[in-house]
Amino acid sequence: MGEPFRVGLTRDFLNAEGRIGWGDIGLAALDEAEGVEWDFLPDAGTGEIPPGAVAGYDALLVLLPRVTAETLRGADRLRLVARFGVGYDNVDVAACTEAGVVVTITPDGVRGPVAVSALTMLLAVAHKVRQKDALVRTGRWHDKLDHMGVGPAGKTLGLVGWGNIGREVTRLCAPLGMRQLAADPYADAAAATAAGVGLVDLDTLLAESDFVVVTCALTPETHHLLDAVRIARMKPAAYLVNVARGPIVDQKALTAALAERAIAGAALDVFETEPPDPADPLLALDNVLLAPHAIAWTDELALGNGRSAIAAVLDVAAGRAPAHPVNPAALDHPRFRSMRKAAH
Ligand SMILES: NC(=O)c1ccc[n+]([C@@H]2O[C@H](COP(=O)([O-])OP(=O)(O)OC[C@H]3O[C@@H](n4cnc5c(N)ncnc54)[C@H](O)[C@@H]3O)[C@@H](O)[C@H]2O)c1
Repeated sequence: MGEPFRVGLTRDFLNAEGRIGWGDIGLAALDEAEGVEWDFLPDAGTGEIPPGAVAGYDALLVLLPRVTAETLRGADRLRLVARFGVGYDNVDVAACTEAGVVVTITPDGVRGPVAVSALTMLLAVAHKVRQKDALVRTGRWHDKLDHMGVGPAGKTLGLVGWGNIGREVTRLCAPLGMRQLAADPYADAAAATAAGVGLVDLDTLLAESDFVVVTCALTPETHHLLDAVRIARMKPAAYLVNVARGPIVDQKALTAALAERAIAGAALDVFETEPPDPADPLLALDNVLLAPHAIAWTDELALGNGRSAIAAVLDVAAGRAPAHPVNPAALDHPRFRSMRKAAH
């Protein structure tokens, strides 16, 4: 038998009791794989994984610690950094590509859970779940007629961004009887037509939607895409849901619009600064529903992300290309190619 394929998990997967804080992330597949061994790296908090810690590993399964050019120094065996999730700002991708290390993410793991979360927030804020919960707890049962909700049927849903998650929101919402619009300059027009989604420009979407759901990527182009001017184009009865990234929405402008009731309400899983300042006036408003960038944290997300990341590990261990590389150029790096040959 040759050398085992060694996988290092960042230690932040463990909670204070020393168990995987996410529950089942599908590690059984690593236990069952022949010739694969795994253990935890030394604690790096959310800081940089030090170079010595990675020597001797073929693959890393990474949550929050940073993988930098320094981390890769002397990591001669390393071929894969599998990120648990779809964000990878904690990984120096250019340094990985140069070193022949493939970086993967788990879009198939987040797709369903984040789309379900967008729908959860949309329905919860429009049905006034927070307010109705408070009515029961504070003995105001009979005030319920003052808190009528808004149902989805016959309303217009506007998706700002129609990618992995946006398309899944479309699929989930299809039975709810909503007209669907999307604003995404890069979306596949034929796929949108086939899904019954009208691709429109952002201003049209904002003017016509009863529910605006932000599911686009955060890029220099989408930073403050929803600013004061754009928010002012929304209907006074409309709701805004953001499960994408905080800085896509100008949070001060949104707070002002909510305070003036220029729009009906908002549901936010993400913020411009996370966590937000406890004194932020947004937090005092009664027409917002908030979550700590964790509305999608469910058993389904944990297992989905884990399975996807572990599939990448097992693919690379077997000399196959993983399904979701962010730097496919690394697959052609001579070091990665020689490792693939050795696996066959
Ligand atoms: N809340 C969470 O826990 C959570 C979890 C996973 C992902 N996310 C976020 O959700 C968002 C969507 O993720 P995804 O997996 O669907 O990504 P994706 O890359 O598949 O889709 C993003 C879409 O944004 C579109 N886009 C880019 N520029 C745009 C613009 N100017 N206007 C409109 N659309 C534009 C792209 O064309 C693409 O279709 C991302 O911001 C991601 O970071 C949040």
